[in-house]
Amino acid sequence: MITLPQSSEQVAFTLEKVIARRKGLAVPGKANAPLVAVLGPKGGTGKTLIATNLAVALAQRDANVVLVDLDLQFGDIGLALGMSPEHTMYDLMRAGPPFDHEKLERHLIRHSSGVKVLIAPTRPDQASAVSIDYLRDIYASLRTMCDAVIVDTPPGFTPEVIATIDVSTEICMVGMLDSLSLKNTKLGLETLDLMGYDTDHVSLVLNRADSRVGITHDDVSMIVGRGPDVSIPSDREIPRSINEGTPIVASKQSSGAAKAFRALADRYAKPPAPKPTPLRGAPPSGVRALMGRRR
Ligand SMILES: Nc1ncnc2c1ncn2[C@@H]1O[C@H](COP(=O)(O)OP(=O)(O)O)[C@@H](O)[C@H]1O
Ligand SMILES: [Mg+2]
Repeated sequence: MITLPQSSEQVAFTLEKVIARRKGLAVPGKANAPLVAVLGPKGGTGKTLIATNLAVALAQRDANVVLVDLDLQFGDIGLALGMSPEHTMYDLMRAGPPFDHEKLERHLIRHSSGVKVLIAPTRPDQASAVSIDYLRDIYASLRTMCDAVIVDTPPGFTPEVIATIDVSTEICMVGMLDSLSLKNTKLGLETLDLMGYDTDHVSLVLNRADSRVGITHDDVSMIVGRGPDVSIPSDREIPRSINEGTPIVASKQSSGAAKAFRALADRYAKPPAPKPTPLRGAPPSGVRALMGRRR
């Protein structure tokens, strides 16, 4: 619903959102994994770094993770994970629906960490082949076949990003310690608010959080309106890990950055199943029960 009067930009934004939305989020009657959208209004803030490390950190806990590269024109998850793009989202789109498990599995590439990746089209001109309707079907299927879906996104609220936000269960908003980035992070959070997104499911991740650039964490809270949930330090190993195609959470597990990524993963990891405690005085069952009866 849109309440008038509104600015023409807001009406246009709402309409775009409605067009991008249209159908169901989860498949009824099935276990639907959480879908985490990693967002950041600008390029170069660390979205890809965070999406890849979060996915690998979850896989390190034996979670079955699918990582989707939604940066349709300049996706670089394949490169960041040192994988060759044998199959991409472009091939999947060309194969068309219905997107059953088998077809999806064929288009996912397995990283050595166990994370399965849906690689972005390899060339910018292939991006237009990606249909938002198909994308929604793909998300719905993926959510029934793994423990977590992580989506890396391009900068800004493009139609495919809006569609992803709509089906996501969690958002990880990335900001950096400079006033321009923080201003845009605040705008991003306000936009989510405008879309009616539940703030309880939005985590604020501050990247390069230790840079001595004259902005304190209190300034961050003042500019953005909330403090960061997770802070990731700058680390010279990070560019190296990207160049080598091995996320820092795997290549340098004791680093502050790796610890921060594990703290982020804590927010999305399934709680360990409680160990069954034998009931005291419970009647014997199975073989014991049979033996008891014979006695
Ligand atoms: N915490 C960090 N420490 C060191 N370098 C970083 C850090 N975060 C990002 N970078 C550098 O910035 C580059 C851009 O990050 P990236 O994740 O690709 O941003 P985005 O996906 O938002 O465009 C990375 O290739 C990396 O070299
Ligand atoms: Mg990126």
